[in-house]
Amino acid sequence: MSINAEIKVNGKSYELPVVEGTEKEIAIDIGKFRSASGLITLDFGFKNTGSTKSAITFLDGEKGILRYRGYPIDQLAEKSSFLEVAYLLIFGSLPVKDELENFQESIYEHTLVHEDIKKILDGFPSNAHPMGVLSSLICSLTAFYPESLDPSSSWKDVNLSINRIIAKITTFAAWAHKHQQGHPVNYPGKYEDYTADLLHMMFKLPGKEYEVKPVVSRALDQLLILHADHEQNCSTSTVRIVGSSHASMYASVSAGINALWGPLHGGANQAVIEMLEAIKADGGDTDKWMAKAKDKDDPFRLMGFGHRVYKNFDPRANIIKVAADEVLEALGVDDPILEIAKGLEEVALRDDYFVERKLYPNVDFYSGIIYRALGIPTEMFTVMFAIGRLPGWIAQWKEMRENKEPIGRPRQIYIGENERDYVAIDQR
Ligand code: ACO
Repeated sequence: MSINAEIKVNGKSYELPVVEGTEKEIAIDIGKFRSASGLITLDFGFKNTGSTKSAITFLDGEKGILRYRGYPIDQLAEKSSFLEVAYLLIFGSLPVKDELENFQESIYEHTLVHEDIKKILDGFPSNAHPMGVLSSLICSLTAFYPESLDPSSSWKDVNLSINRIIAKITTFAAWAHKHQQGHPVNYPGKYEDYTADLLHMMFKLPGKEYEVKPVVSRALDQLLILHADHEQNCSTSTVRIVGSSHASMYASVSAGINALWGPLHGGANQAVIEMLEAIKADGGDTDKWMAKAKDKDDPFRLMGFGHRVYKNFDPRANIIKVAADEVLEALGVDDPILEIAKGLEEVALRDDYFVERKLYPNVDFYSGIIYRALGIPTEMFTVMFAIGRLPGWIAQWKEMRENKEPIGRPRQIYIGENERDYVAIDQR
């Protein structure tokens, strides 16, 4: 069924096509509206603007639904592995046995990085935030693999770049951590398991044994699955828009890492723990901090609460909350911060301010508590998120290039000065 929308401006009507998705979502296509009317649409923060048609991830924020390529997130988190989910997101279907084995093998083959990358790492001060280090090292891959610069040349090269970046991001992440510690780096390859190898590279100390507990690597793998894609969020839109200029995948992902870093996006997982620590140090008075979050004159926000699209519950947060309890119990960790988090959540879910604005705990509210229990330092939380989100960024970048989407270039409404003449410096 083809339907149109009608927009009336100053008595004149314009007919616009309506686009329908496979889940019956509909949108008004305004692509030709400007040429017909001379008007643009204005939407700060793209709160109600679709930027693309995508077949990767479906989410319904009202119903709390999240599916990758049609598969519900809870099924994937329970039954799949991170690399299998990465394959699914990037190539569109669940791999058969051989496909998954070949994919994993290729990832393990590429985890080693060029020794010169250590020189770049050494150039960073030891207090550099690992997110800045990670984005720089990812971007440096453009120099080590110049054939990746023109992704239109060969999809075989693109597939190689995909395997390389998934493989090397764990080495970079672990090295960023080691650099911050002032410790020598560990090389990849001890384990044939993505998260176990990452943990080994992060935590093995010279001359000491380090065994990865299966409960820890499985919990981390599950967290990576939950973060693997989330359709057109801030960092993914960044990746797509940078890639739309035909910049390479490495450059586009590096930009996505920077977008993820901010506390309103992926950086919230670090901010949540810092907030919970501050509340604890302040005596644990959750009512006081709730009042701060509601005070419009106070810039404080309850970190880990609220979401641009989830207005009911974040399905990832529900899975993580259960996982947090299980992991803490399995590891015998008694974290007082978990009690503060649960207390805050309980108060917020009953509070009119939060209820009216549909503010619920998001994925980052409990993820930091699990990361802490797994022994991951706070500054590395957002790095873990970046590793998890990588397959999503790649899938979205690839889809955008395969569909030959045009360069991203929004318009604006100018509100500055009207034309005026230049004034010489001595006459101002
Ligand atoms: N604490 C207190 N008030 C909040 C919060 C919060 N965490 N989040 C939103 N609000 C209030 C706003 O002040 C606003 O109130 P108003 O209508 O009276 O002005 C209203 O709720 C709507 O908030 P917006 O900022 O307009 O919502 P938006 O969709 O632009 O922002 C965001 C969403 C950025 C996630 C926001 O809720 C927030 O800052 N949360 C805290 C940071 C966070 O947890 N980010 C992680 C998100 S998940 C992710 O990116 C992986």
